[in-house]
Amino acid sequence: MGKIMLVTSGKGGTGKSTVALNLGISLSKEGKKAIVIELDSGMRCIDLMLGIDSIVYDLGDILSGNCTLDEAIYETEYVENLSIIAAPVKSNYIISAARFVALCRQLSTVYDFVILDTPAGIGSELSAAAQAASHALVVTNLSPVSVRDAEKATDFLRKAGHKRIRLVVNFVPLEFESKEEIADIDDIIDEVGAQLIAIIPEDKLLKKCVLNRTKKEIKKSVGIISFENLAARVIGREVPLLFK
Ligand SMILES: Nc1ncnc2c1ncn2[C@@H]1O[C@H](COP(=O)(O)OP(=O)(O)O)[C@@H](O)[C@H]1O
Ligand SMILES: [Mg+2]
Repeated sequence: MGKIMLVTSGKGGTGKSTVALNLGISLSKEGKKAIVIELDSGMRCIDLMLGIDSIVYDLGDILSGNCTLDEAIYETEYVENLSIIAAPVKSNYIISAARFVALCRQLSTVYDFVILDTPAGIGSELSAAAQAASHALVVTNLSPVSVRDAEKATDFLRKAGHKRIRLVVNFVPLEFESKEEIADIDDIIDEVGAQLIAIIPEDKLLKKCVLNRTKKEIKKSVGIISFENLAARVIGREVPLLFK
């Protein structure tokens, strides 16, 4: 059985989809079969981030029985072993937690990693994802508002019975060298109350489009390396944190 892992943050724009997809890409480069499911109803974006412009069926269609599972799974020509299921196109789509959990379990018999990219906030999608997943990544940036919301998301997950919650600090400036800023990250870990698994730098290459890193000729940037390290840790290898 594969691992089902959710990615959440509490606040929008902290980089959940970027983390979910880049983790998926890095896992696939490690030879693992991964699928990313986006739950952000009406705000679909991972198809665009991966350069897939042919979505016909989405998560809503599978859960409502409008299509077969295979019909809603899309692959990108740039990355082997990585598939996606796009978010429901309708913004008011209500996800049935029971059906969603069954879907994730089914996928985990085929994929090594089922990655759930949740929307911002503590709503029904996060609740469904929390029921399906055994592992969670909480993403925050350095801003106090983002940290507070990450703490709320972590509390929610704990109350839902989650024990394997790890923190990803995203958008860390590249010139991150001063002791004061390192102390900031220590404070964030204390405030959120989850063990740190990755520090992801702010990286132009990540900003432009996830697709950029899938091109063969691309030089590895510090952002890409940080995701390779995250994937290695998720698989269970010990890799030092960047910036330490
Ligand atoms: N580490 C990073 N460096 C540069 N840009 C980033 C980074 N992480 C995310 N972004 C950019 O920030 C924006 C929001 O990220 P996204 O993953 O869509 O957030 P969310 O899914 O949490 O709403 C996107 O334009 C994305 O490309
Ligand atoms: Mg998103």
